[in-house]
Amino acid sequence: MITGLSHVSIAVPSLAGAAERLKELYGLAAGEAVVNEEQGIRLAYVDLGNARIELMEPARPDSSISKFLEHHPAGGIHHFCLNVDGLVPAAAAITAKGARVLGAAGETRNVHGELIAFVHPKDFLGALVELEERSA
Ligand code: CO
Repeated sequence: MITGLSHVSIAVPSLAGAAERLKELYGLAAGEAVVNEEQGIRLAYVDLGNARIELMEPARPDSSISKFLEHHPAGGIHHFCLNVDGLVPAAAAITAKGARVLGAAGETRNVHGELIAFVHPKDFLGALVELEERSA
């Protein structure tokens, strides 16, 4: 059911600043920013071929990452995302093992239109895990 690593996501106070640092330190270029209106975040991706780095900046003060940035003002790793071949069955299997899948699986999509869900960090070593449906 897990088919690969989609991305590692970093919450940052400034997309421009983060993109500049990625360029300067690793020679990596971030793509055009896109806005997730629902979550109030602006996103940019660095494509590494087999996975991506996701950069997230708040697009408004009550964004879904504003609280995280209050605790980590310089930014920090927010979650990692695994690809699954079927989101609803993967969420059901994880729920059956006693973990908390946040929200209703099968109803949330990312900015690329893919079905996603998050698994509570307390159910996996303190790490927030995103699941993303992607057919191989
Ligand atoms: Co993500």
